[in-house]
Amino acid sequence: MQAAEYRSGIGWDVHPLVPGRPLILGGVRIPFELGLSGHSDADVLAHAVTDAVLGAAALGDIGQHFPDTDPRWKDADSLRLLRRAAEMATARGFGIAHVDAILILERPKLAPWREAMREKLAAALDLPPDCVSLKFKTAERMGPVGEGRAVEALAVVTLVRRP
Ligand code: C5P
Ligand code: MG
Repeated sequence: MQAAEYRSGIGWDVHPLVPGRPLILGGVRIPFELGLSGHSDADVLAHAVTDAVLGAAALGDIGQHFPDTDPRWKDADSLRLLRRAAEMATARGFGIAHVDAILILERPKLAPWREAMREKLAAALDLPPDCVSLKFKTAERMGPVGEGRAVEALAVVTLVRRP
C-alpha cells in the first residue's frame, strides 16, 4: 500500500504551577503570580504541539530529541524545540497543515492572549495563524489542574506529504 498523504499526531503534556517562575504559554509570557516549573521554559503548550508534530512524522518524542538532562535546553525557549521538530518533519517530506490544541487551566483566563499565542506557534511552524486553533478549558476544579496546581495541554497536528 502507498504511504498516506495525510498524517495525524497527538501530543500531551503537564507541568506544575509554582511560585517564582514565569508563565509562558505558546511562547507568550502571561502576567500571573505563578509559573510553570521544568528544565526548559516549561511551555506546556509548545511541548504538546512539538510531540504532536513528532508523532505525525513518527519521529519519537520530545524527550528523545531534547533531553531534560541536556544543558542546551535549560530555560530554553520551547518555540525553538517546536521549530526544530517542524524542520525534522519537513526533512521527512511533510508540510504542516494544521494544529488544534487545548490548554487546560483554572486561572488566569487566557482569552485575551489567544491571538498572540496562535501567532507565535504559527510563526514557529511557518504557518498562517488561521491554521492554528487554540482552545482553553478549566478542569471544573477537579484534580491537580482543577486545584490550580498544574497546567495541561493537548494537541493534534496534521501533516501533508509534499508533492
Ligand atoms: O472550562 P469551561 O468550559 O468552563 O471554560 C469556559 C470558557 O472559558 C472556555 O471555552 C474558554 O473560552 C474560557 N477559558 C479561558 N481561560 C481559561 C479557561 C477557560 O479563557 N483558563
Ligand atoms: Mg513539557
